[in-house]
Amino acid sequence: MTRRAIVAANWKMNGNSALVNTMVTGLSDIKLAENVDVVICPSFPYLSELKSELSKANVATNLFVGSQNVSEHDSGAFTGEVSTNMLKELSVNYVIVGHSERRSLYKETSTQVAHKVNAALNAGLTPILCIGESESERATEQTETVLASQLQPVIDEVGIEKFVDVVIAYEPVWAIGTGKTASSEMAQETHQFIRQFLAQNNELVAAKVPLLYGGSVNATNCEELFAQADIDGGLIGGASLKVEQFSSICLAAK
Ligand code: G3H
Repeated sequence: MTRRAIVAANWKMNGNSALVNTMVTGLSDIKLAENVDVVICPSFPYLSELKSELSKANVATNLFVGSQNVSEHDSGAFTGEVSTNMLKELSVNYVIVGHSERRSLYKETSTQVAHKVNAALNAGLTPILCIGESESERATEQTETVLASQLQPVIDEVGIEKFVDVVIAYEPVWAIGTGKTASSEMAQETHQFIRQFLAQNNELVAAKVPLLYGGSVNATNCEELFAQADIDGGLIGGASLKVEQFSSICLAAK
């Protein structure tokens, strides 16, 4: 099964117009492999500017814009929230859902995350569904239970067939922004578990879902991670803010 590789940049609450500009210029200078899609997810205020810079620049067509969050509601009295329709109006293609920072800092539950995935799919946006265990959960051998508990509510809500339009990012919480990357063997083992978990519901669908690894990926460790059988790319935080590093990571994906 050949899946497209995806490298997604999560700028988190970093970046500015200048970074939008330098990133677009930097990515215009590299030749991505045909099988690779690159998604840049800046904060909401820069989505429109990024889209317009990408259309003006001479960049590959496999460069996409994503948001870092979305509301599960269509509209209404939800101050500070952004709906799927608003993102569609900006021609956004992807949306990160359930990032561990949303789950831990803003108390998003797996049920709420499932509603968000559903809203995104209904609007034709591709959700990048983030899952991952904490350090203590791994230490106490609960990794698989935790991942299953994060995936099952989404499967229950949207149905396994819809996962052909979902990207999953496995991000061990202890590896995010810490410089501690999971070894490629550990990451592969966990990705394989995720794919097998999906396969219990539908093997054909499981074989199609791109599984990204996230957590201190950089230009040095990306090649080995991306070479693993069940790792189809990465969700990149810190290194996605540096044009040269991010370009190298994009070039390592095949
Ligand atoms: O969404 C990205 C992840 O949280 C990884 O962040 O590459 O800075 O560890 P990081």
